[in-house]
Amino acid sequence: MCGIIGIIGKAPVTPLLVDALKRLEYRGYDSAGVATLINGHIDRRRAEGKLVNLEARLKSEPLAGTIGIGHTRWATHGKPSERNAHPIATDRVAIVHNGIIENFQELKDELVAEGRRFESDTDTEAVAQLLTSYLERQMSPEAAMGKAMGRLRGAFALVAMFSGRHDILMGARRGSSLAVGHGDGEMYVGTDALALAPFTSRVTYLEDDDWVVLSSSGCAVYQGTTKVERPEKRSGLSGAMIGKGNHQHFMLKEMHEQPAVIGDTLQSYLDPATRAVRTPSLPFDWNTVSRITMTGCGTAFYACMVAKYWFEKLARLPVEIEVASEFRYREPPLPEGGVCIAVSQSGETIDTLEALRYAKSQKQILLAVTNVPESAIARFSHAVLPTLAGPEICVASTKAFTTQLIVLLNAAIAAGRARGTLSREDEERLALAMIELPARINETLNMEDDYRRIAENTLAQARDVLYLGRGASFPVALEGALKLKELSYIHAEGYAGGEMKHGPIALIDDAVPVVVVAPSDSIFGKIASNFEHKIASNFEQVRARGGKLVLLSDARGVAKLGAKAETSIAVPDIDPVVAPILYTVAVQLLAYYTALAKGTDIDQPRNLAKSVTVE
Ligand code: M6R
Repeated sequence: MCGIIGIIGKAPVTPLLVDALKRLEYRGYDSAGVATLINGHIDRRRAEGKLVNLEARLKSEPLAGTIGIGHTRWATHGKPSERNAHPIATDRVAIVHNGIIENFQELKDELVAEGRRFESDTDTEAVAQLLTSYLERQMSPEAAMGKAMGRLRGAFALVAMFSGRHDILMGARRGSSLAVGHGDGEMYVGTDALALAPFTSRVTYLEDDDWVVLSSSGCAVYQGTTKVERPEKRSGLSGAMIGKGNHQHFMLKEMHEQPAVIGDTLQSYLDPATRAVRTPSLPFDWNTVSRITMTGCGTAFYACMVAKYWFEKLARLPVEIEVASEFRYREPPLPEGGVCIAVSQSGETIDTLEALRYAKSQKQILLAVTNVPESAIARFSHAVLPTLAGPEICVASTKAFTTQLIVLLNAAIAAGRARGTLSREDEERLALAMIELPARINETLNMEDDYRRIAENTLAQARDVLYLGRGASFPVALEGALKLKELSYIHAEGYAGGEMKHGPIALIDDAVPVVVVAPSDSIFGKIASNFEHKIASNFEQVRARGGKLVLLSDARGVAKLGAKAETSIAVPDIDPVVAPILYTVAVQLLAYYTALAKGTDIDQPRNLAKSVTVE
């Protein structure tokens, strides 16, 4: 949602704060700001819009100081404006904050009744004013923070800097992530280890309800009034991992990283020599699982959709999937012996975390598939299956999604083996298909000019685009439509092929391209035998209404149907079970090049944020 950073340094900190904000900008980018202490007084610079605006401001009005805090914002309370940009400050304290203070109105009413004047529309200001009220009652910053923690409700991470106190910064977290970085005579605090990576690899992750006092020589962590120990760990992240390299956009870099990160992920989950999945040690036996419930948001939810096909087919396990934001409020009964799998790149999406909380209340075993093993969702779960995608900076998810699929496919194979529903022969076949996948993805990426042509000539000219897919290609169609929407702002919808005639067909005319995701085989014998018939009938329905067909299929599918399409691409041949992963790369390329043709902000699309830690 928002990115936060704080530094107690030996030299001027503003350049370091801005540098860290650049790494955090993917979390939110509608305003940004920094504050430092100058002769004991809080001074700040803030700017609406992207970080470049703040940088321009700092060029004309530099900010000195060796202690400071910074923020990049995705607005929740109060519109994006300089007035609502963080740091939010009084004359005693400056705050940067990520998350939501749910009882801010109640606190505000109390504080206004005390005679305090609020200057912003943010919930954050309630924290700044509350701390100020305590400080004015002669409490120390430590006592004020400890007391404030007892008053705040909601999910948040915050960092506070106090006027007259060049020696300390304070942080606090509940629900949202916050990490402390240990330097040499310098200390850092930020949203995650990624923000701190160029400064230090020595990181302490804070737990829920922790508050921390940083000085130049270390930190002390508290829960309530009790001092607690939190270990210092080595973060494997390096500054180089979060650059764009030679690529124009993070998205392009991350798409091109897919062969490598899928290879890395496979190394953990598969033994290439024996072509057998490595069964991760899990706190349950697949044989006693009564049902799997899978949940996630956005792209992560589509990973659940694909995995449903795999678990049902390969392990013969019943699977329910549900968008996390609906699941948590629907409160469905969940059977004893059930496993709830939460899928989340960031591991901090609040809807997914709350869905897990509900599943726990229903006595489900919780399994997290996440890219951030230290995240809230990972820590809340009984077991974690990490995706080894490395940091994903582009707001639109690419490599995180394909590695989620790899992890879930391996889990489904492990379940199938344990339950005796998958033969050794099939396991070897699928293992081999996964081992070949990085090479097939490379071939697909090498064909990017073909995708670019379709993007420029067809998709970028359209106002609406339909994506169709059958079986496990249906979620790929949904993902293709989501990617196109978020990156190019073109309206797009994904449909199960057979559904088109039940409504969406009304939209089709010569201005509406229809992208058909159609590997020529399927894990479902029924569709396999009817493939040509079913896809061909979709084709005829679209053609009869003047629609422009874009066919994504393999050589066999293109040979059969390519002539009927306005344009087609032969995706490399791959085992149909693994095909959703490869075809995902194809729809990513279409979305990327359409956005490039439209000139949109690819890495930071309007209105979006990388991780959504508020409802
Ligand atoms: O971090 P998460 O995987 O939990 O995030 C879930 C969604 O917010 C995310 O996948 C979103 O849909 C992306 N912008 C998709 O590209």
